[in-house]
Amino acid sequence: MPNFNIIIPIFTFYLLLFPISETIAETDSITNLQSLSKNQTLVSNNGQFQLGFFTLDNSTNHYYLGIWYKNIPGQTVVWVANRENPATKPNSLLFISNNTLVLSQDSNTVLWSVSITTKLRNQILQLLDSGNLVLREENEENKYLWQSFDYPGDTLLPGMKLGKDLRTGFDRRLTAWKNNKDPSPGSLSWEMDVTIWPEPMQRIGSTKQFSTGAWIGLDYGSKPTRQHLLYFSLVYFSNEDEVYFAFNLVNNSIPGRIVLDQTSYRRLYLVWIDSYKQWSILSSMPRVFCERFSVCGSNSNCDWTKSGVEACDCLRGFRPNRDGGCLRHNPLNCESDGFVKYVKMKVPDTENCWYLNQTMNLDECREKCLKNCSCTAYTNSDVRGEGSGCALWSGDLYDLRILPDAGQDLYIRVPASELETNNGRIRKIGIAVGITIGVLCGLLLVYCLIWKRRKRSTLKALIDHSKEEQEEDPEVPLYDLSVIASSTDNFSDKNKLGEGGFGSVFKGTLEDGQRIAVKRLSTGSGQGIKEFKNEITLIAKLQHRNLVKLQGYCIENKEKILIYEYMPNKSLDFFIFDQTQRMVLDWPTRISIICGIARGLLYLHQDSKLTVIHRDLKASNVLLDDEMNPKISDFGLARILGGDQTTEMTLRVVGT
Ligand SMILES: *[C@@H]1O[C@H](CO)[C@@H](O)[C@H](O)[C@H]1NC(C)=O
Ligand SMILES: *[C@@H]1O[C@H](CO)[C@@H](O)[C@H](O)[C@H]1NC(C)=O
Ligand SMILES: *[C@@H]1O[C@H](CO)[C@@H](O)[C@H](O)[C@H]1NC(C)=O
Ligand SMILES: *[C@@H]1O[C@H](CO)[C@@H](O)[C@H](O)[C@H]1NC(C)=O
Ligand SMILES: *[C@@H]1O[C@H](CO)[C@@H](O)[C@H](O)[C@H]1NC(C)=O
Ligand SMILES: *[C@@H]1O[C@H](CO)[C@@H](O)[C@H](O)[C@H]1NC(C)=O
Repeated sequence: MPNFNIIIPIFTFYLLLFPISETIAETDSITNLQSLSKNQTLVSNNGQFQLGFFTLDNSTNHYYLGIWYKNIPGQTVVWVANRENPATKPNSLLFISNNTLVLSQDSNTVLWSVSITTKLRNQILQLLDSGNLVLREENEENKYLWQSFDYPGDTLLPGMKLGKDLRTGFDRRLTAWKNNKDPSPGSLSWEMDVTIWPEPMQRIGSTKQFSTGAWIGLDYGSKPTRQHLLYFSLVYFSNEDEVYFAFNLVNNSIPGRIVLDQTSYRRLYLVWIDSYKQWSILSSMPRVFCERFSVCGSNSNCDWTKSGVEACDCLRGFRPNRDGGCLRHNPLNCESDGFVKYVKMKVPDTENCWYLNQTMNLDECREKCLKNCSCTAYTNSDVRGEGSGCALWSGDLYDLRILPDAGQDLYIRVPASELETNNGRIRKIGIAVGITIGVLCGLLLVYCLIWKRRKRSTLKALIDHSKEEQEEDPEVPLYDLSVIASSTDNFSDKNKLGEGGFGSVFKGTLEDGQRIAVKRLSTGSGQGIKEFKNEITLIAKLQHRNLVKLQGYCIENKEKILIYEYMPNKSLDFFIFDQTQRMVLDWPTRISIICGIARGLLYLHQDSKLTVIHRDLKASNVLLDDEMNPKISDFGLARILGGDQTTEMTLRVVGT
């Protein structure tokens, strides 16, 4: 923080400073006799990083002092000195004087400064090859009096630490930029929570948002299922003096960084792929429903392949609590209790972890937990090899989830009665399954016998069914054409999202700010208004998490328009057919998309009353919401457009 008492006298002689000469070759440092002005920069010795003044918004003339990649096109800023205090005049100057590094404008305004307590003689400010800006004595190469790596902004570079000095309490944490025009700290942060077992935690304001869990010897469990582990090697360090997280590059010629992004509330792992001339996102966290901190509440397990309430499941011995989370339904007995083993788990939030020992084995760990009546769970603290170490929890367990292809065994304490009833339960389930299968076989036989007879009348029944509902108005709202036209700027080309055989799709914004996707059907369909309404009534009843939701419709003049919810992440083809975007889709995400599509289809084909066949399922008809959940679109159009009398696109697949 600026100490103005010290700094004010400096200005009496700062005019005597010499600017670094622009005619000499690029330099990586300035001394206490030199200064850096708005049109000068320092360049690291390897030519990778550059320090200087930059602006984010030409219209405001706000200047920041910062560091960016010199050899990467488009200014990728990795550090900003005066995040909250932009310079507004072009006469800004950076200089060292009287034990202080100062960024000033005019001759009396200090925008940013760093004061050093040790008495300096020949100070030098140098931009290192790592992108670290350091202040040191000229003849002491490796002793930094101050370094920018200690004051991170929104970016973690290779070699930078995220963590705490336990002796002094000094904290190195990341905070996102407010937005891409304003580098001052936003609400998204990432820091090392120091508990018995330190855990890097991402927060929005003070609320926990996301954690990969405490370090268990490897990132998140085991094998490098995550794309970023192919490029980044993660480092975790802990002793009584300090605890930190850091990363190194697997291949130093591929630049990489980790950035907090306030717009998407995600942590992005990025590498510069030279052949694409683009930063590629390797991972963005959190991605799936289950990764949101303790989204299922206490003592509840989240299944990463699902989302919403379906994903949450109480641990054994617990029942759903009305206020969220799960409560134990039989009390623990202490001595006679046992443990239930869960596999592929993330370790619970470490706030309730009360014991950690890195040398104990699993049997000793179990003993230790059993002896203490308030111990509720135990696990190995290091999963490498056979597993070792011991971590114990008390009270409620939070932020549990099953991990895809990773994670570890977690043992949860339950009363003995719970273990017994479970054996009984399995037997009962066995009997029940047997009976069910028998009954199903019988039913199947009967069904097969009458199937041929019913086959022909099914279609007729469906038509009759829609006739019954003929007078009914669709349950979704009817929009005025004028409202739709104004929301899409009169169906202007700049709002056009796509075009298909069925017509064109436009992006629209209603007056209340809600965004919609507007599908304007081509007028070719021979359908009457009544039939169109009937079909909408039916389609509106098709509601499933993996189907795009119909929000309304519009019939006016010859226009037939469908209004859907707007999907910000575009469609699947945008990701899988693009060299860089496809990297966003790591395997867990892909599998969750595949399962989602399958669930949507199962619903269309079988679980809904209508038995709809899509007939045009392709990547561009699978839309993605902001959590990358897939939603099938266009599922009702085959019906709306009256079977085979539509377009080429459907003609080709009719009959499959
Ligand atoms: C340098 O700072 C010290 C206090 O830290 C102050 O006493 C001294 O006058 C300053 N010198 C100059 C030249 O400003
Ligand atoms: C750079 O800035 C200095 C000091 O403000 C000024 O004297 C010089 O003319 C500038 N050079 C260019 C090329 O703008
Ligand atoms: C500012 O204006 C310059 C020249 O007009 C342009 O090259 C640069 O991209 C602009 N920067 C931003 C952040 O808009
Ligand atoms: C590192 O990356 C560069 C550029 O992509 C590549 O040419 C080189 O072979 C890589 N080195 C190793 C050891 O993989
Ligand atoms: C860890 O457990 C072992 C074996 O029980 C014990 O000898 C050791 O002192 C423990 N270490 C700590 C730090 O408690
Ligand atoms: C039992 O567990 C509690 C934490 O719930 C802990 O505070 C206490 O020290 C433990 N007792 C023993 C004897 O280890």
